[in-house]
Amino acid sequence: MPLLNDKVALVTGGARGIGKTIALQFAASGAHVVVVDTDSAGIQETAAEVEAAGRKSLALKCNVADAAEVEAMVAKVQETFPRIDILVNNAGITRDNLLIRMAEQDWDLVLDVNLKGPFLLTKAVSRVMMKQRYGRIVNVASVVGIIGNAGQANYSASKGGLIALTRSVARELASRQVTCNAVAPGFIRTAMTDNLSEEVRTAFMKSIPLQRMGTAEDIAGVVLFLASDEASYITGQVVSIDGGMFMG
Ligand code: NAI
Repeated sequence: MPLLNDKVALVTGGARGIGKTIALQFAASGAHVVVVDTDSAGIQETAAEVEAAGRKSLALKCNVADAAEVEAMVAKVQETFPRIDILVNNAGITRDNLLIRMAEQDWDLVLDVNLKGPFLLTKAVSRVMMKQRYGRIVNVASVVGIIGNAGQANYSASKGGLIALTRSVARELASRQVTCNAVAPGFIRTAMTDNLSEEVRTAFMKSIPLQRMGTAEDIAGVVLFLASDEASYITGQVVSIDGGMFMG
């Protein structure tokens, strides 16, 4: 039987990059997938590919940082699907700058999308999961949420906060058989990293023992495992997927 047979999964940031790859791997593993993103064209494309794989899909435009939009979106999901088994908080943004030059609005925006977003989604979806006494929440954090990074004070703080949120949610929901884990990707080839300068890229490569950038598939495989029944005794953990950048 496929790993996620008939499970219902909600993936944020599913229009492209890592989120899209997660959505498609979930579909290939038997899940029906709700694709959530601010990119209307992108969600339609991902949803069409999920359906082409023979699963049901729902494309919902939603800004994860907006509480009213999140509530309305989750209500819409429930009109179509009786359950929500899996939540992947993957939507994320960067607004990099040195601390002394960082605008307050860039701090707020990154924290709103990367940390408040997962809080709002988890709050709305965990109500459903607690009732059904089953759930898998997987948060996409980052290696810089563990080790920090010059020029990314806002982003690394948001991802460090997301790791702390993961552990608190894991403790709160464990008695209802809802697990909550995080993955911490390293340097992954997507639109987010495509426009980095050659200098930054070279510096990054020196810090990766496996000497290559990661792929979206490297991340999606671990997320799939954490979202499956195979991972039912794992909660509150952070799995690094970074070619060995951080060994904790
Ligand atoms: P990406 O930029 O290719 O995709 C992010 C997606 O999130 C986009 O489709 C975007 O429209 C969506 N999004 C942005 N703001 C949103 C909002 N307010 N509401 C709903 N959707 C929104 O990025 P990528 O590389 O696929 O990253 C996915 C996740 O992985 C992010 O959380 C990122 O921080 C994390 N990550 C990425 C790494 C990398 O090297 N690419 C490394 C470590 C973590």
